[in-house]
Amino acid sequence: MTDLKVAIVGCGNISRSHASAYAAAPVELVGVADIVPEKAVELAEKYSSTPFDSLTSLLAATSPDLVSVTTPPGSHAALAIEILAAGKSVLLEKPPVLSLAELDAVAEAEQASAGSVYVVFQHRHGSGGLRAASLLSTGALGRPQVAVCETLWFRPVSYFDPEWRGTWVGEGGGPTLGHGIHQIDLLLHLLGPWKSLTATAVRLDRPVEFEDVSMASVIFESGAVATVINSLLSPRELSRIRIDTTGGSLEVNHLYGYSDTDWSFTPAPDAARAAANGLDPGARRTEDVAVGTDPWADSAGGDVPSNHAAQLGRLVADLLAGRTHETTLASTRPTMEFVTALYASALTGAAVHRAELTPSHPFYSALHGNVPQPEIDQSLKF
Ligand SMILES: NC(=O)c1ccc[n+]([C@@H]2O[C@H](COP(=O)([O-])OP(=O)(O)OC[C@H]3O[C@@H](n4cnc5c(N)ncnc54)[C@H](O)[C@@H]3O)[C@@H](O)[C@H]2O)c1
Repeated sequence: MTDLKVAIVGCGNISRSHASAYAAAPVELVGVADIVPEKAVELAEKYSSTPFDSLTSLLAATSPDLVSVTTPPGSHAALAIEILAAGKSVLLEKPPVLSLAELDAVAEAEQASAGSVYVVFQHRHGSGGLRAASLLSTGALGRPQVAVCETLWFRPVSYFDPEWRGTWVGEGGGPTLGHGIHQIDLLLHLLGPWKSLTATAVRLDRPVEFEDVSMASVIFESGAVATVINSLLSPRELSRIRIDTTGGSLEVNHLYGYSDTDWSFTPAPDAARAAANGLDPGARRTEDVAVGTDPWADSAGGDVPSNHAAQLGRLVADLLAGRTHETTLASTRPTMEFVTALYASALTGAAVHRAELTPSHPFYSALHGNVPQPEIDQSLKF
């Protein structure tokens, strides 16, 4: 007997991570849907569920409390709005939507619904990310000053074979939106509100309508600064965030998911140690972190890797306990604002302030800003 009924719409690659995370949680998978019926049948058989050929038929026949949306990004907003209209909650795969306009439309549907919207950003939910967020928010690791955020991945030309990939309509954007968004979301989650950015995007090699590499320089409201790079052309793949604070350097190096061992914290040298190493003893502001303590090491506990099981397990536990799950649609708005600003800055050559991103901004309704494709092609070439 379980208390929570869940369903999945979109039975492709990532649906298996949802189905297997739900299989390990106290929920009942009441249905799975795909517009390609055989895909729904295959997933339903593997996880003892019922197949449907559309979300509409699934909602007509079952009454799930929560529906995972694991379809291509271009379909997320419409499916989320249909689920909310039925009074059910939604778990949207990343990227949650393709524009701030879509995000606000889904948020409006959420306001009118008994359901809520959550987003998959699994790297907020591993134990390392939870420790980092908690220790940075209390100041225990010092004050963040400089950060580096790298998503250096490799996607061959064949990756873009499916019709929906490589297009603004289907995929919505390049590595900024589809890949780097994981690291960008974690960086923003850890460092707090960003203020402005300037960016560059180029298309060097892949057969896509958008960029295959992008870079941004970001200023945060706290005064901290960061560089962000997103690439699909990097054969030795790496995902990395490094945050240098007044107390030390916090770093996570991983690829598609981290464990505790992928994190490190290197405390800044205290005055005595710095002097012994021939360094400027004033290099460390000892008032920021108590000398001789290592708050990172002290916070170690059970290792939870940052995968779908981590987030979906927490989401189910939160819903069953009546708690708010923190990765709400609203909490991911700064991430979509960042992605929007990166495209706006790269395609216009101007710095973008987060406060500008209102409905009247030219990039609010589409990440390409409705710039004609030949002009986009020209800007991405340099
Ligand atoms: N969180 C992560 O680490 C992660 C990893 C990979 C993919 N994703 C995201 O998951 C989503 C799906 O990616 P994927 O790689 O599984 O894609 P996929 O192409 O393998 O699967 C998508 C499935 O959705 C079905 N579909 C399309 N439109 C539909 C509709 N309107 N109703 C029902 N079914 C529909 C397709 O037939 C297909 O089976 C994307 O948003 C992607 O960015 C997230």
